[in-house]
Amino acid sequence: MAHEAAKRDLIRILQNAYSGEIAAAYAYRGHWKSLKDSPEKERIKQIEEEEWDHRRRVGEWLAQLGAAPWRLREKIFRTIGRVLGLTCYVSGWFMPMYFAGRLESKNSVEYEDAAVFARELGMQDCVDDLLDMARVEVEHEVFFREVVSGHRLLPIMKRVFGWS
Ligand SMILES: [Fe+2]
Ligand SMILES: [Fe+2]
Repeated sequence: MAHEAAKRDLIRILQNAYSGEIAAAYAYRGHWKSLKDSPEKERIKQIEEEEWDHRRRVGEWLAQLGAAPWRLREKIFRTIGRVLGLTCYVSGWFMPMYFAGRLESKNSVEYEDAAVFARELGMQDCVDDLLDMARVEVEHEVFFREVVSGHRLLPIMKRVFGWS
């Protein structure tokens, strides 16, 4: 029954990721809209597009596995994304960038974990696709890390949250 367990675990991670992507996409949309025209704004716009692309790809894998998105989680994460997107207008610049970086590092690990289960299931195309998405999430993380590097609040955040 190792196969069944791997399939169940893969579906669960993909359902989480699917909803996570909508939260990220809405949050980034709110965020870039709150910024003045700049290369940074353009990059975050592009990151939003990449999150929609991930969501589409994850949705296809879910369908292929005979599974569907988790409806309640979808509602919750859509709301979280919209609220985060709105708070960008009031919370200032540093916090959204900092937490985005943290979230992205979690996302890449999530896709790598999913790839392990897909490999167990012999789904090589899925493995490749998941690792490609993990790679893109690492690019996102690197971007947000660079954006906040040197900020005066960063040492405090590192001490409180343990992420650098
Ligand atoms: Fe993503
Ligand atoms: Fe991302």
